[in-house]
Amino acid sequence: MSPLWQQKKQKEFCLGNGILLSAYSPLGAVGTIWGSNRAMECEVLKEIAKLKGKTVPQVRTNKGNLKLDYLDLYLIHWHMSFKKRSEGDKEYVFLPMDLSSVWAAMEDSYPMDLSSVWAAMEDCQRLGLTKSVGLSNFTCKKVADILSIAKIPPVVNQVEMNPLWQQKNLKEFCHGNGILLSAYSPLGAAGTTWGSNRVMDCELLKEIANLKGKTVAQVCLRWAYEQGVSVIVKSFNAERMKQNLEIFDWSLSEDELKMIHQIPQRRCCRAEKFVSEDGPFKTLEELWDGEFDLQ
Ligand SMILES: NC(=O)c1ccc[n+]([C@@H]2O[C@H](COP(=O)([O-])OP(=O)(O)OC[C@H]3O[C@@H](n4cnc5c(N)ncnc54)[C@H](OP(=O)(O)O)[C@@H]3O)[C@@H](O)[C@H]2O)c1
Repeated sequence: MSPLWQQKKQKEFCLGNGILLSAYSPLGAVGTIWGSNRAMECEVLKEIAKLKGKTVPQVRTNKGNLKLDYLDLYLIHWHMSFKKRSEGDKEYVFLPMDLSSVWAAMEDSYPMDLSSVWAAMEDCQRLGLTKSVGLSNFTCKKVADILSIAKIPPVVNQVEMNPLWQQKNLKEFCHGNGILLSAYSPLGAAGTTWGSNRVMDCELLKEIANLKGKTVAQVCLRWAYEQGVSVIVKSFNAERMKQNLEIFDWSLSEDELKMIHQIPQRRCCRAEKFVSEDGPFKTLEELWDGEFDLQ
């Protein structure tokens, strides 16, 4: 969320339902973090900043834009960077409705300079732009790389986590280093470009759900909750949102947990499109440091 992607509808809907919107890439990725410098180079924002005698990042988190004085948490979304590229008036920027642009720009991607990017994240925290800083889609190895250079350690690593991709090693590693794992796609992200129906169609989960009089979604969310991670599930449906919150007054039995533990493990979101001859990651092995399939 940034002035160039203001999420008006999403914001109205969430605030109207008492849900605080948490923004990632509010600085438009600052060039090295994700996407392009588009927001940071926006003339309108620069003009406002000049008039107010402030820097662009300060202006971009103020009440006039995000209705926030600061962010609670600011994450590095992915561990790769993109050169700025424009053709005519088209710039390559990661936006959910235009995924083709990010794939098209793979030859412009390059390994993230973790030292300088993490130093910039730490500056955001020191400047009070964010209360905390963290990571997303980082493997054990990449978290360790950050820890080896960090003056301010990350507090969160937001990654795919569900019964079909349980992230046992990463959870142990992160929690052992004081980093909370945050589970995205806890239902396997059915219906998105990055997910599949595999979680919601899993026969074992259906069996457990039937026996307990719960839905598969509730079993997945309860399972994630019992792992001691934070959970981000998405629904635009009021009934399903309610259902997704009804997981706190019951629990999974030891036997059910054991059965879930034995489900063959495979990432749903493998991000194969980030693997490219022209990009920094030539194989899935390189992209995920081997953490993508445990069958
Ligand atoms: N950091 C990252 O790289 C990253 C990557 C992926 C996702 N995320 C974030 O993680 C959050 C959640 O992940 P996600 O959207 O990928 O996957 P998800 O929450 O696992 O799945 C969302 C899908 O499940 C459906 N759904 C929700 N509740 C349901 C229920 N009770 N029964 C049946 N279907 C249900 C939703 O449809 P309806 O809306 O129709 O209910 C939607 O199609 C999102 O906010 C996303 O932005 C972050």
